[in-house]
Amino acid sequence: MSLLEVKNLQVHFPIRSGFWNRITDYVKAVDGVSFEIEAGETFGLVGESGSGKTTTGRAVVGLEPSTGGQILYQGKNIALNHAKERLTYNQDVQMIFQDSLSSLNPRKRIESIIAEPLRNFEQLDSEKEKIRVLQLLDIVGLGPDALYKYPHQFSGGQRQRIGIARAVATNPKLIIADEPVSALDLSVQAQVLNFLKKIQREFGISFLFISHDLGVVRHMCDRLAIMNRGRLVEVGSRADIYNHPQHIYTKRLLAAIPQVDVRHRQEHQAERIRIEKIYQSQKANYYDANGMAYPLVQISPTHSVALPPEMAQQKKLTTQGVD
Ligand SMILES: Nc1ncnc2c1ncn2[C@@H]1O[C@H](COP(=O)(O)OP(=O)(O)OP(=O)(O)O)[C@@H](O)[C@H]1O
Ligand SMILES: [Mg+2]
Repeated sequence: MSLLEVKNLQVHFPIRSGFWNRITDYVKAVDGVSFEIEAGETFGLVGESGSGKTTTGRAVVGLEPSTGGQILYQGKNIALNHAKERLTYNQDVQMIFQDSLSSLNPRKRIESIIAEPLRNFEQLDSEKEKIRVLQLLDIVGLGPDALYKYPHQFSGGQRQRIGIARAVATNPKLIIADEPVSALDLSVQAQVLNFLKKIQREFGISFLFISHDLGVVRHMCDRLAIMNRGRLVEVGSRADIYNHPQHIYTKRLLAAIPQVDVRHRQEHQAERIRIEKIYQSQKANYYDANGMAYPLVQISPTHSVALPPEMAQQKKLTTQGVD
């Protein structure tokens, strides 16, 4: 049994217009997304801006009501949970938010920001609570002087660490990390990513790691899903996605990873232009008449791709041939 199982999740936002403010259409931010996360695993959710990653994460933690589908935690549908199970879920599943400045209350000191989840789930006296907050600050590499400061008195990287301290306060089993490093410069990015790996090793936490950059998640994720306009276009192991990408959109995202190595920059630029040309000429084949990705087809035990029906048929034939 997986720790988390998301089945055919849909989150549609109504668009209202006209004098009567009637619902005239829907933004299908998440439109039939399915994936599983195993205990201790880091699962990446990658896609460009607006593809529905944050909405998926918010639906999983229960901050966004879903329009359809199911979310199973340890095999149980969270929508049907009784109050006690709901409390366990809220304690076990935490989120690190994309925007650290607006997700930390500007009028509260760090002490009470980090203590807040503790107060919701554990009854500690003030002395014990303070000791725990100090421990949490220590885990993320901040000293006791942080206790009485306000969020604006920290740098972006430090604020992100405060968000991490708050997320791990309740000893969660799963953390939804929404672009935890994208606002930070490269050197600080590495630091925060290392922190996340460290707390994962120490506490056995699973991660749903959200990012728009396949370069950032490369060393973090065991498996990944590529999201495009509310749907998943490819799901696979790290090797499947980075070494054998099948969907045209995944190939394009891979070509967009910034090249740090100066020696190969020109080759990389040429490769990017080549992929972009292929993408422009072939993209119509990979989406249906409404511009939506096709359903996922399993092409190996670990790898699924949203292939158009003809290509899916071919793949099935070849994989059957291999067996
Ligand atoms: N509360 C809302 N009401 C209406 N539309 C929304 C709402 N939240 C998100 N959307 C829309 O849903 C789509 C997906 O948004 P979402 O924030 O999930 O994307 P994202 O993949 O996280 O993007 P980014 O990388 O920029 O953070 C967008 O088109 C967005 O405008
Ligand atoms: Mg987002």
